[in-house]
Amino acid sequence: MVVGLHWIAQAFNFQDNMPAWLGWVAVVLLSHVNYRSGQMHDMAAVTRQAHERGALVIWDLAHAAGAVPVDLNGADADYAVGCTYKYLNGGPGSPAFIWVAPRHIPDFWQPLSGWWGHQRPFDMTVAYEPAGGIRRYLCGTQPIVSLAMVECGLDVAREADIPNCAGSRWRWATCSSPWSRNAAPGIR
Ligand SMILES: Cc1ncc(COP(=O)(O)O)c(C=O)c1O
Repeated sequence: MVVGLHWIAQAFNFQDNMPAWLGWVAVVLLSHVNYRSGQMHDMAAVTRQAHERGALVIWDLAHAAGAVPVDLNGADADYAVGCTYKYLNGGPGSPAFIWVAPRHIPDFWQPLSGWWGHQRPFDMTVAYEPAGGIRRYLCGTQPIVSLAMVECGLDVAREADIPNCAGSRWRWATCSSPWSRNAAPGIR
């Protein structure tokens, strides 16, 4: 069973209190940062609790990548997806991304296979053979102009002091959001 847990995450402080019924959930899908409230989950704690209950976690980084520090390896995360057009500065039309923990790559595939993810694309073989690493999740030809834009955006993101920026932004979000003040005292 796969669940998207936005509304439940608002009711529970997940990192402290993951509900027992998660024992029958196979995959948890959560936004690291909730775009409405600014709530940010403790990725390592939530992932650990999910793993203890036998669930995998997919992190949606759409509002986190480029905005707050994200440490997928440190959190022992399983999977992540995100977009580059927001805080990574790529602008409209810039590509999405996927991250898969190296331990899952041999057994995990996505349904949109294509020549960019092929082990030997120019062999033109009849059978599809996925590339060995993360490259297997590519499918068709990349949007090169969009990638060039993201490259500029990533350069800016790399120069920015994300932990410092994130600190002031999240202090602001916590203070300014009525939802945060009234409904989620445990917000970080
Ligand atoms: C929480 C969240 N996930 C994913 C996305 C990416 O959606 P799409 O690929 O449709 O642009 C967004 C875009 O705003 C988002 O807010």
